Amino acid sequence: MKYISRERLKQENLFTAGTYGMIKGARGYLVGMIIKNSERAFENFGYCMEEAIIHLTSLGIDTCWIGGVFDRKTFGRVLDIGNDEIVPAVIALGYSASRRTIRDRIVRWSSKGDHRKPMEQLFFDQNLETPLEMKPDSRLLPLLENIRLAPSASNKQPWRIIRDANSLHFYLNRDKLYSKLIPNVDLQRIDMGIALCHFEFSAGEAGIQFRREDFRDPPCLVPDHFEYTISYSLILS
Ligand SMILES: Cc1cc2nc3c(=O)[nH]c(=O)nc-3n(C[C@H](O)[C@H](O)[C@H](O)COP(=O)(O)O)c2cc1C
Repeated sequence: MKYISRERLKQENLFTAGTYGMIKGARGYLVGMIIKNSERAFENFGYCMEEAIIHLTSLGIDTCWIGGVFDRKTFGRVLDIGNDEIVPAVIALGYSASRRTIRDRIVRWSSKGDHRKPMEQLFFDQNLETPLEMKPDSRLLPLLENIRLAPSASNKQPWRIIRDANSLHFYLNRDKLYSKLIPNVDLQRIDMGIALCHFEFSAGEAGIQFRREDFRDPPCLVPDHFEYTISYSLILS
């Protein structure tokens, strides 16, 4: 992971620093690369970058994930990446403007950036037909709420979690059309890594211990376009 100042990017003659004018006035970019086709690389990338973002946010620095429209090649050149590597996304850093521009409002409206799906569409009890019911004082509630509030590409919120006893199984509700837009970069698996980061940090904050478990055979019955990612065993004593 590296920091690239806007001055450094400008030396590369990038039009408004590689984001084609979508981001203005960013002080710099947090960037990282992955090795193409390596296992869980997108999830790990999402996790690590979001961990940094949480830290930066606590310091009062504003951030924006950019995975769609930016000049991957030039960022890659600045990072001196190899042929087997790729820059999946970058994070713009700065201080947000006090008023949104019209263009910003249109982009935000089109991705419904201010909305999040309700809990019952994301979290389930043993199978996808049964939404997870939780008492208001449940220790799990803040953990799931922090997943629900996580950022995701085009705000698609692709994570689905099925609880079975003390296990939580994480699935990706893949949007196939969306995946074709940027063929080499799996933005939705980055989203999943972000959600795992929110989950693990929230569990740490709530003092809930957990163990990661990777079942070879997906543990629940789900539709074909659901992709099993990982499970957590919670120690709720
Ligand atoms: C992997 C990823 C890629 C994203 N790519 C872009 C992007 O290219 N341009 C953009 O304006 N926002 C991008 N976003 C920001 C999302 O649109 C935003 O997180 C979502 O709409 C929810 O808004 P919020 O984070 O302000 O709550 C991206 C977010 C993620 C997680």
